[in-house]
Parts: sequence; structure tokens; C-alpha cells
Amino acid sequence: MTTRMEDSNVPVILVGAMTQHRVIGQGDTMPWDIPEEYQTFIDNIRGQTVIMGRKSYEVFGPDLTSAHAIVVSRGRPEVDVPVVDSIESALELARSYGLKIFVAGGSQIYDLALPYADWMFLSEIKKDYDGDKLFPEFDRSQWQIAREDEHAKFIYREWKRMD
Ligand SMILES: NC(=O)c1ccc[n+]([C@@H]2O[C@H](COP(=O)([O-])OP(=O)(O)OC[C@H]3O[C@@H](n4cnc5c(N)ncnc54)[C@H](OP(=O)(O)O)[C@@H]3O)[C@@H](O)[C@H]2O)c1
Repeated sequence: MTTRMEDSNVPVILVGAMTQHRVIGQGDTMPWDIPEEYQTFIDNIRGQTVIMGRKSYEVFGPDLTSAHAIVVSRGRPEVDVPVVDSIESALELARSYGLKIFVAGGSQIYDLALPYADWMFLSEIKKDYDGDKLFPEFDRSQWQIAREDEHAKFIYREWKRMD
């Protein structure tokens, strides 16, 4: 039994970009550089709360436009934002801020957060790229597309979990 947003009125949104084959990264970085896509991410998280795995925060932390960031780690990384040791603790802290909660990767943290997600804001990169970090598989019959925008290099979709 998971606790999802309906319970607290604060939506949990997985946000990210992936290829048709669910590739989100190669090593510590993303295998593409698509500024227009990155801008949609930056615009979505502006003024909200972002949860990230320690590895992704080390790369993307400086870019974040969110009001709050929370890092998930089993250790004690030296970062200037709160660090918690589970996705459940991250969500609990994030809820206390009362803003939208964006879970922004990477692969390990998407896996942990998917059961709690109410929405997924996902860009599908049109070109195929190799990579070793994947977005989790999800059952598409449980999700409906609430919004879809076609761009030159990607398709942006907002997926809503069906009740
Ligand atoms: N395409 C996109 O939208 C997008 C977005 C974000 C990231 N990415 C890509 O994703 C890749 C990074 O993903 P990743 O999976 O390697 O790393 P990650 O999810 O960013 O971070 C992994 C770290 O999270 C912590 N962690 C994982 N499971 C945990 C648990 N159960 N409890 C407590 N802490 C836990 C650990 O930190 P400690 O080691 O400190 O214990 C672990 O090393 C990169 O390639 C990046 O470019 C892509």
C-alpha cells in the first residue's frame, strides 16, 4: 500500500527525459544536449521542491531553480541541502514544504519513487542514444496522457496515474 498525493494534496511528479528505450543517462551524465528540453525541466521545477539521488544532485544541483532540494543518500555527502536516507523520508520532508514535489532522478531514485508518483512529466527524446541508466518500466494501462506537446527533438508528455 502506497501513500500517494491524493492523501496529502501535494502531488508527487516524476520528471525527466528518456529515449524510446528508456535510456536516461550514460555514466554520470545525460547522453544528449537539448537546451529546449532542459528548459522545460527548469521551468517545471522553478519554485517547487525537488528530490534527487546523490549522484544526480552532484551533477545537476547547481542548475536547480527549485525552492527546496532534498538529496537521498545512504551516506553523508557534503551538500548544502537536506540529506535523507530513504525516499519515504524525502517525501515526508518534501510534504512539509507544501509545494509540488518533483522527483528528478536518477535511475535509482526513479525506481524508489515510482510507486508514490501521481504524475510523470516525461520528455521522449526522438533520437536513439545508448546508455546504462534507465527509467523504470511502468504499466501504461495504469496511466493516461493528460498533455502532449510535440517539439523538434522530443515529445513532452504529462502522464497522470489513473484512479
Ligand atoms: N534524463 C534525465 O531526465 C535524468 C535526470 C536525472 C539523472 N539522470 C541520469 O541518471 C544517472 C544517475 O542515476 P543513478 O541511478 O546512477 O544515481 P541517482 O539515482 O542519481 O543516485 C544514486 C544514489 O542515491 C542513493 N540511494 C540510492 N538508493 C538508495 C536507498 N534505497 N536509500 C538511500 N539512498 C539511496 C545512493 O547515494 P550514496 O551513494 O550517497 O549512498 C546512490 O548512490 C546519470 O546518468 C544522470 O545523468 C537523467
